Amino acid sequence: MTIKYETIDVLEMTPKCGGFIEGVDLSQDISNQQFKEIYNAVVDRVVVIFRGQKLTPKQHISFSKKFGKTQASAVSGFEKNTDYPEIDNLAYDADNPPHVTRDLWHTDFAGREKPTWGTLLYAREIPPEGGDTIWVNNVAAYEALSDRMKQHIDGLTAYHDSYRPYGETIRPEMWEDGGESLGRLKTERSIYRPALHPVVRTHPDSGKKGLFVNESMTTKIKELDFRESDYLLRFLFDHLRTPEFQYRHKWEADDLAIWDNRTSLHYALFDYDQYRLMHRIVIEGDVPYQ
Ligand SMILES: [Fe+2]
Repeated sequence: MTIKYETIDVLEMTPKCGGFIEGVDLSQDISNQQFKEIYNAVVDRVVVIFRGQKLTPKQHISFSKKFGKTQASAVSGFEKNTDYPEIDNLAYDADNPPHVTRDLWHTDFAGREKPTWGTLLYAREIPPEGGDTIWVNNVAAYEALSDRMKQHIDGLTAYHDSYRPYGETIRPEMWEDGGESLGRLKTERSIYRPALHPVVRTHPDSGKKGLFVNESMTTKIKELDFRESDYLLRFLFDHLRTPEFQYRHKWEADDLAIWDNRTSLHYALFDYDQYRLMHRIVIEGDVPYQ
């Protein structure tokens, strides 16, 4: 179905997630009205895609800044673009795989007190096959729970640890370099402590409730016994993988995706051998609340 705004049309990709916006050239100035409508489409669809955009890094940065302050990610584990510190280079191939070779479903920077608002990811070079990204709408996931389960999780809070997916529980090879990697991890952890967030997060723009836990970083529900927490989290992680809440994007070069990190989780597939280069700009977010 196509949703008609005043200045843009948004083609829904699945009932719960994803939208394509056509007929907008982001290298040109856009009106305030058009920006407002794009913003609303991101909130509504969780992720929107613009195809065939020819953007210089400067144009990518200046469009991104309309959404908020760009977030420095010095310890994000991603390589910075040396000319443009706002941009992370996500550059991988078979010889240089991502840090976590198999991704885990996650919400970016959930381990920080203020997880990011969202991301503007621009596809510069795309392999002939593989490298899709999947997003899931966490509002759809919350709304599909039974009333009894909603009552059960109401008011719970959970710890999120940004370094868990990079650490020794996920990557045991970190024990094998004489402790150097673990030492670095401990230093980083002493700076960025795990953050405590509500399990049910209210979206500040839409007022809708979403399920704010992810299998990559959420370690424990504070109010529950460890085993209770473990089983409940496993159920919630499984529930969040439901295909009906998802959109899976097959990238083309010059695609720009904008996603709302407050209302989504995503999974970046690493199933390609040939070179893939993405430019990522992350926007600062707020403290989550229920
Ligand atoms: Fe991510």
